[in-house]
Amino acid sequence: MPEAHDRPPQQFKLRLRRYDPESGQAPYWDEHTVELEPHRSVLEAVLQARDRFDGSIGIRCSCRQAICGSCGVRVNGEPALACHTHLDAALSGAPEGVIEIEPMGNMPVIKDLIVDMDEVHWKKIQRVTPWLLAKQPVPEREYLVPKESMVDVTQTMACIQCGACVSDCLAMEVDPGFIGPAALAKAYRFVGDPRDAEQHERLNDLAQDPQGIFDCTHCFKCVEACPKDVNPMGQIMRLRRIATSDQHIVDQNNGERHEKAFTGLIKDNGLLWEAELLPRSYGGNSFFGKFHPAAGKELVSSLPSIVKALLRGKVTPAGALKPHKIPGEDLKRVQSIYDRVEGREERYELNLYIAGEDEAAADELVTAGVASGAADTADAQVAEGAASAPGPEGTTSTDPTGPEEGAGSSAPAGEAPSTTAPPEAGTGQDPEIEKTGEEADAVGPGEDGEDTEKGSEG
Ligand code: SF4
Ligand code: SF4
Ligand code: FES
Repeated sequence: MPEAHDRPPQQFKLRLRRYDPESGQAPYWDEHTVELEPHRSVLEAVLQARDRFDGSIGIRCSCRQAICGSCGVRVNGEPALACHTHLDAALSGAPEGVIEIEPMGNMPVIKDLIVDMDEVHWKKIQRVTPWLLAKQPVPEREYLVPKESMVDVTQTMACIQCGACVSDCLAMEVDPGFIGPAALAKAYRFVGDPRDAEQHERLNDLAQDPQGIFDCTHCFKCVEACPKDVNPMGQIMRLRRIATSDQHIVDQNNGERHEKAFTGLIKDNGLLWEAELLPRSYGGNSFFGKFHPAAGKELVSSLPSIVKALLRGKVTPAGALKPHKIPGEDLKRVQSIYDRVEGREERYELNLYIAGEDEAAADELVTAGVASGAADTADAQVAEGAASAPGPEGTTSTDPTGPEEGAGSSAPAGEAPSTTAPPEAGTGQDPEIEKTGEEADAVGPGEDGEDTEKGSEG
């Protein structure tokens, strides 16, 4: 079978979720059949439907190459960038052979596939003070930062603010006030930056907020949703570890003790003993924790949930009174994992985004001269990190600070750029990327001559 890009145009059925809050009508599904090559994107398909059949279809887009983050939607129920989802891939996951396209979740719909990012996403980003609070005195020339520190925050810098993680966050669905994955990943970007003067204050703020770092339920949805491998949940866990293990912040939400009780119970029993979780979260990791007055109070307030869990058979009275049991051999294996992790002298913070080596890519960079100056290993690492940064195909960036920090791109390779002014979230493009964007625009519109104007919202 020929590759997708060699195959001739074929028909694709689209089912679009339509809704105009100003019309007073309820949301409805609208179907159109478009004709495009299978390697074309879902965005192109929607634009064709808009151009050919119904000019009132609303979708937001700009770069069409997975850089600007404006075309976030749900395709067959999963969050995706419409411009970064091929039609053949979308069709393979389509129920009944019809590609379903809906607006993102957890944000109010403005029209059809366009959601109000200001109302949710950007408000939450603003909540975490998304700029550097520079250490004083500001050096006359520039801050010199260890390269490893910049590599460490590279992953969060790859965020294109598309909102896909926000759309799928389960904690946010239950508690819309939760600061959320994108904003907390952004918070790590500054907590992890040694130039920032307020690491402790930032962490304390996010730990004490009942809708802060301890509100995340580790569901992994944001990790799966992110088109740029930012791993927001991983960044939240890093914020927690620094707040608790390094900065010894005791949060008023009992988050740290809850985590300790959770891991302690699994270490002791091999499985979670749900009934002991709450008392131990208050009274420490001992059997007598349940007699702590705060635990009693919380227990009383949790009674409705406990009764519901009992009625639905999620917890049995016997299960509540006794810990679960697993075979002794298995318990030993579980405990050996704890021994190994806890026995380490230093905590590993593995940033998977830049882990591993791609020698071919690094060689290519050096050959192309873009990694010149990356003389030592750390420099090479930065170049690799940049090389692996998601972006438009065929583009690379030598700036370890990524697209977000375009202002510092004049810094020599391997040196962190100086930043004395707050970077504007979601703006400022890496010159390399900007250039590629222009080149791509120069390629011209799609076969149907759809508009290529920036930020078009129909
Ligand atoms: S892991 Fe946490 S932040 Fe990520 S989607 Fe789940 S609850 Fe939200
Ligand atoms: S973390 Fe990923 S999914 Fe979330 S806004 Fe940034 S790029 Fe999008
Ligand atoms: S990310 Fe899809 S249009 Fe920019």
